[in-house]
Formats: sequence, structure tokens, C-alpha cells
Amino acid sequence: MDLQELINISRIPLPYSQKVIDLFRNPKNQGKMKNPTVIAVAGNPACGDMITFYMKINDQEVIEKITFESYGCAANIATASIVTEMVNGLNLKDTWKELSWKKVVEEVGGLPNVKSHCGILAVGAVKRGIRKYYQQKGLVPNWIPRGLTSEEKQALEEEELAEKLSKK
Ligand code: FES
Repeated sequence: MDLQELINISRIPLPYSQKVIDLFRNPKNQGKMKNPTVIAVAGNPACGDMITFYMKINDQEVIEKITFESYGCAANIATASIVTEMVNGLNLKDTWKELSWKKVVEEVGGLPNVKSHCGILAVGAVKRGIRKYYQQKGLVPNWIPRGLTSEEKQALEEEELAEKLSKK
């Protein structure tokens, strides 16, 4: 395959669902938050893209407000946007149990296979944020597994990502 053929392939639009396209054009809850309770910055080793979630968590451990900033692709923006809608108003335990990559992909009407990791990043970042919230408080609820979930492993913290990418 010559260079021109490669360039042409890279221009073929990905088969995104209408929902992904709509959320990419009009994401919900996008932007920085003033005085969040927790900030979760996570990056994906598959593509090097980053995402930040800001969460305001009240004394009842309910997510009162959640926003995001994305430095990723359309799938990343769309999945982050849907995640904020799915978890807004939920308590942390329900968020942990109910938020999965599969559900997120279903909610956006499916993702092209090559974009699966973009949805995993959004879920992993929120779970890392919840873990961080309890670490900051010096508490470890028994519903949080000791080891990182597969989604968290694929959503690396900024420093881990930089280290991983520097070895590539
Ligand atoms: S390609 Fe990197 S987040 Fe989608």
C-alpha cells in the first residue's frame, strides 16, 4: 500500500452513531469547575489522549455536579458527556456499581471497534476519581476492590501515561 492509499483510508469517516455525532457537536457538562471536591485526570495509552473530570460530591456521597474537559476524539467527548449525564445525582457506590464501559457504549448507540478504548477512558477516569475521593479521606469502602479494575488500568494517571509514552 502506498502513502496516498494510506492517506485516503485515514480520510474515510468512522461509522459513528447519530448520538455520538450529536454529543460531539453539543456535549453536555463540558468545562472546568470551580472548587470541585475531586479532579480526575486520566489518559489512554492506546492513543495518548487525555480527559479530566471535575466532581462536586456532597456529605451524603452524592455527585451533585460533574463536568469534564476532553483532549480526545469525538468518541471521547461523546462518552464523557454521556457519563456525566448517567452519574449526575447518583451516590458514589451506585456510580461505581452501575457505571460500566458496556453501558456507556450502549447509551451512545455503539462505537466503532477502533474507538472502544475512548469509552473505557471515560469510565476508568470517573472510577479513578471515586477512588481518589476516598483516598483523600483516608477511607476505603468495602465495595471498592483493592486492585484497579480493567477500566482504571486503561485510564492511566497523567504521570503514568507520560512514563508509558516515553518508553514507546
Ligand atoms: S482516539 Fe484517543 S480518546 Fe479516542
